[in-house]
Amino acid sequence: MKRIPSPWPRALEWNEGLFLLEQTLLPQKEVWIPIHSVPELVQAIERLAVRGAPAIGCAAAYGMVIGVQEATTPDLWLEHLHKAGKALSASRPTAVNLQVGVQKMIEVGLQLANQGHHSFHSWTSQLLDAANQFHREDEILCERIGAHGAALLPDGACILTHCNAGALATGGMGTALSVIYSAFQNGNPVTVLADETRPLLQGARLTCWELSRAGIPVTLQCDSAAASALASGNVHAVVVGSDRIARNGDVANKIGTYGLAVLAHHHDVPFYVAAPTTTVDLNCPTGATIPIEERGAEEILGFGNTVSAPGEVPVRNPAFDVTPAALVTAIITEHGVLHAPSEEKLLAQAETKEG
Ligand code: MRU
Repeated sequence: MKRIPSPWPRALEWNEGLFLLEQTLLPQKEVWIPIHSVPELVQAIERLAVRGAPAIGCAAAYGMVIGVQEATTPDLWLEHLHKAGKALSASRPTAVNLQVGVQKMIEVGLQLANQGHHSFHSWTSQLLDAANQFHREDEILCERIGAHGAALLPDGACILTHCNAGALATGGMGTALSVIYSAFQNGNPVTVLADETRPLLQGARLTCWELSRAGIPVTLQCDSAAASALASGNVHAVVVGSDRIARNGDVANKIGTYGLAVLAHHHDVPFYVAAPTTTVDLNCPTGATIPIEERGAEEILGFGNTVSAPGEVPVRNPAFDVTPAALVTAIITEHGVLHAPSEEKLLAQAETKEG
């Protein structure tokens, strides 16, 4: 009999304050860390204690509440909201969800300010309601993505995924992994091939951890084994998440995703991107305008305390790459499956959403 997966983990929660599951310690230790200030949250986002596009959007929304709580005098609350927004927006450049979370809270703040007289307590509690709602909405988006995506997977499919686009990366059950969780819950005996995802091993540390604890069979491979896996004919789909999708359907995601898309195309394996529409940035005409985060050389020169390259060698460490829309079989959003994504289709979807 099929084992029903245990609930997926949560990446963050508000319990009289913001708490993050410290992802740099996984899978060895499950430690929740309290966040007391905006600079502390900025640092947590930068060092990937909380990571994944939707999860950092949710964390930033809560961070805006903390920013207002930090106001020394109540009349400075709006100023503090803007100050927190500026600091949080600058913490990581690629995932547009971070800006979406910040922007949402600024809109709510401005509405409250326009409503005139309220107590400081009422502003902070209404901002907290808005942050909770943003978090809850992300949870619902994940469920819908999962339901749409699961229908695409053949029975017993083997799915290759890269990085971690799971519960740990969102406010809910994940994007790419929500497709897998949903399929599994529907009784489809899917299996997963997880790329370890150099240099910070989100695939090995996080994807393998969360899928294993849900009872979903997962096999770990090094990134360079993806080519032979796809050539073998035993992989039925590649499913990944995204940090930002441009208006023409180009997709930014963890470094190495583009290579996977090229391989999937060559081997005629469907390449699916699962992401909420909060990840679509209509202000970016193409992937070329998506800012790509460049991270520190130390992430490539060694691991932990082990040095793996001469310290003087120049290093490039882009954290993300861009997959051209032409290589994407479909984008799975909360609204459904967008086959062969294009500017026309993404704009039509945005209009339906607003209408
Ligand atoms: O650097 P990270 O770990 O934040 O990168 C995360 C990814 O690339 C994910 O695939 C992406 O954010 C989608 S998460 C649902």
